[in-house]
Amino acid sequence: MELAPTLTSQTIQNRVREVGINPNYWYPVAWADRLQPGKILPVMVWQQAIAVYRDINGQLHALEDACPHKGVALHQGKVQGDNLVCPYHGWQFNRNGKCVNIPYLPEGQKLPCAQAASYPVQEKYNIIWVFPSNSNLAENTPLPDVPEYEHPDWLLVPIPAHFQAHFSICNENTMDVFHGFLHQDLQGWFDPVLLNLHQNERSVQAKYQVSYQGWMTKFLGFSEHGNQVTTRTISINYEYPHYRSSIEGVSSIYLMRLPVGMTETKSFSLLFLKVGLPKWMLKRIKPQLSQMIWRFLFKKFLDQDIEMIESEQRTYLANPGRRYVEINPAIIALQRLIVGQYEEFMQQSRKLSNSSRNHQKEK
Ligand code: FES
Ligand SMILES: [Fe+2]
Repeated sequence: MELAPTLTSQTIQNRVREVGINPNYWYPVAWADRLQPGKILPVMVWQQAIAVYRDINGQLHALEDACPHKGVALHQGKVQGDNLVCPYHGWQFNRNGKCVNIPYLPEGQKLPCAQAASYPVQEKYNIIWVFPSNSNLAENTPLPDVPEYEHPDWLLVPIPAHFQAHFSICNENTMDVFHGFLHQDLQGWFDPVLLNLHQNERSVQAKYQVSYQGWMTKFLGFSEHGNQVTTRTISINYEYPHYRSSIEGVSSIYLMRLPVGMTETKSFSLLFLKVGLPKWMLKRIKPQLSQMIWRFLFKKFLDQDIEMIESEQRTYLANPGRRYVEINPAIIALQRLIVGQYEEFMQQSRKLSNSSRNHQKEK
C-alpha cells in the first residue's frame, strides 16, 4: 500500500511501547566466532532465557536455560559430546532437551520424563540466529538476505549495539532520517525529505532524499572535495523484525535486532562500505580498517543515538500516560506494523490454545 509522504501531525499510540514481539522469526543472539566448540552462551530473547552451546564437533544447539529438575541455569553447566550437563546434580540433556542420563540413578532404573525446551538455531553472516517460537515454522522462515556479505568489493564493519530501551524506540530511530539534526557536529546528513512511503503487513519501505557536505561526502566517495554539497537517496526497508538501509552503490547497513525485554534491545549490525582502495590493499587491511572505521567514525553516531533513545525510554517510563506528537508518517507506519505483528501472533496463540482446549474436552 502506497502512503502519502506528507508530514502531518498525529498522536502516538503509547501502546507501541508496551507490545511484545512476534517470535515467529529468526532473531540474532551473538557473533558466531565468539562461541568456541564445547562452550555455552546464555542469551535472552524477549524474556526467554536460552542456553546456546556449540558441541565438540562445532554444531550449535539451543536449549531453554533452566534445568527441568530444579530450574538451575543450564548455561552454568558444561558440554559433553553433543549434550549439556547441568551443574547441580549432573543430569544430562541431549540436543532436543531430553534427559538422557542421571549419574546417580541405579542401573536398570528408568529415566524420568524430564524435558528442557529446545529451539531451532543456525549461523550465518557470522551471527548465531535463534527461532524462539513454533519450531515448525522455522524451516520456511528465511533469514534476511545479505548479498554484500560474500562480495569482496565491500568492506564489512560489524557493529554491536546495546540499548536500554524498548525495541520500538530503537527501530524508530533508524526509520527517522529527520534526526540528522542530532549528528550535525559529526557532519552527518542534512535537508532530509521523505520522498515516498510504502507499507504492507510485513514491511515498511521509505525513501528519503538527504544532503551531505564535509568529510562524509569525501569518505563515502560522493565527491572529490568535502566542501561540495551532494544529494543522495536513502532507501530504508524495515522487514519485520530487521532493517536494511542503503545508499545505492555506496553503503548498506543491515540492523539485526534482538529485543531482549521490555526496556532492553541489542543489535548485531553489518555495515558495508565501498572504499576507494586497490583490492590487494583492501584485502590485507580489511579487519584493521573495519575496526578503525567503527571506533573512530560510526561509534560516535551510535553513541549519540543511544543517548537519545535511552532518554526517550526514561521519560516514557516516568509518565506512560503522556501524549506525544509525531509528524513523520513513516514512524506512524512503523508503529502500526510493530503493533500489528504482535497482535497477529497473539491471535494465533489464542486460536491454538482454544483448539487444544476443545481437543482436550472431546477426549
Ligand atoms: S537442577 Fe539440574 S540436575 Fe538438578
Ligand atoms: Fe542516528
